[in-house]
Amino acid sequence: MRVSVIGCGYLGAVHAASMAQLGHNVVGIDVDAKKIALLSAGKTPFYEPGFAELLRECLAEGRLSFSTDMAAAVGADVHFLCVGTPQSADSLAADLRYVHAAMDSLGAALGDSPPTVVAGKSTVPVGTARALAEKLKLTSPNATLVWNPEFLREGFAVKDTIQPDRIVYGLAPGGEGQWAAGVLDQVYAPILARETPKIETDYETAELVKVSANSFLAMKISFINAIARVCDATGANVKDLAGAIGIDDRIGKKFLRAGIGFGGGCLPKDIRAFATRAAQLGGEDLAELLGQIDRINLGQRSWTVELVSRLVGPDLAGKTVGVLGAAFKPDTDDTRDSPALAIAAALVQRGAIVRIYDPAEAALLPAAGLGVEPTGSVAAAVGGAQAVLVLTEWAEFKELDPASLNGLVEGRTVIDGRNALDAQRWRAAGWDYHGIGTR
Ligand code: UGA
Repeated sequence: MRVSVIGCGYLGAVHAASMAQLGHNVVGIDVDAKKIALLSAGKTPFYEPGFAELLRECLAEGRLSFSTDMAAAVGADVHFLCVGTPQSADSLAADLRYVHAAMDSLGAALGDSPPTVVAGKSTVPVGTARALAEKLKLTSPNATLVWNPEFLREGFAVKDTIQPDRIVYGLAPGGEGQWAAGVLDQVYAPILARETPKIETDYETAELVKVSANSFLAMKISFINAIARVCDATGANVKDLAGAIGIDDRIGKKFLRAGIGFGGGCLPKDIRAFATRAAQLGGEDLAELLGQIDRINLGQRSWTVELVSRLVGPDLAGKTVGVLGAAFKPDTDDTRDSPALAIAAALVQRGAIVRIYDPAEAALLPAAGLGVEPTGSVAAAVGGAQAVLVLTEWAEFKELDPASLNGLVEGRTVIDGRNALDAQRWRAAGWDYHGIGTR
């Protein structure tokens, strides 16, 4: 089939290459000429395992191309809308300007061309899809909107796109919606053939499924982090606790890793946008709950800074801290709303000299602007440090031999912000080990 993907950020670029991998002819479109030039040359604007290989393979096979011209979308059976919905500059709401701009530009290009499907994948506040569908009809009466949210995780983006755990269609009522679902079924045929669960519903439910899923994940993390505080106060161990409650499959083991909290381009901005939208709709309790999840999450960052000050301060002025990890999680170079960088920056604010290292070089780019010194290795980051903070659980850090750092640091104090290290091993090497909610 012919497929266009509008917006070639994290979601769109991976979606475009993955749709080509499923056998479709795909054009990826973005207004950012630099990004399009990079992708066309087989270069990836971000680090994502497996993506570079897939991109080059699909480009070489001629099934994937990129363009800055919306006209290139015309003639496709399905147009996937994959533009970003970041947090607004002046509020907690989602900034929908890119979604509207992309839709306007696509609508103008389509005009009254033959029947086609527009599949919205961006995360939007409930009510957006219906408004977009009405707008689309004004310019392109033969185009039908489906809301088809995406659940991919960074670090597993290719796998999650090609082997999603579910597919959700928010459909226009009646035959038109059913027709559009049939077209999307053909695009996703290899995925559906594996009996991937598919939920057909209305626009509003599809929009809410996405933000509810991310909110629930965020809630699990903030829940366990709040418990971790009580564990710290009592000497209990949150890792053992999470393992024990997670055996109950009504609770589940996943997303109960206590630590410095969640970051990234999705969870934080999605719970804030959802809280804003819920409040507008009279859902005050939900708005409050989401606000509390956010506060607990941000509290983990300040709590970690206080821990550093308790261990090596209280005055941090002139103290040297080595930070391992800048990305918001391992296997990505994404630093959007990264707890690791936020903590590093807060330590600088308190007068500390902070050096940082991340295996993904691009994750270090924002450091200098925050007064944090980027370095090229673990040794360089921890050299002369009074405390070492492991803030992103990259395999390189989990596998570190603590004894090999003994001669480099000034103080053997380690804060394991992700409860990812082998505490016994670090203690055996003479380190004063501190996890989050662990003894
Ligand atoms: C998240 C969701 O997991 C995806 O399902 C969703 O599609 C995506 O947002 C999106 O909306 O596009 P992602 O942002 O890639 O995916 O990251 P997660 O794997 O969810 O991790 C988010 C943050 O939570 C990270 O900072 C991670 O370190 C933290 N985390 C995760 C914890 O602190 N504890 C945990 O137990 C799990």
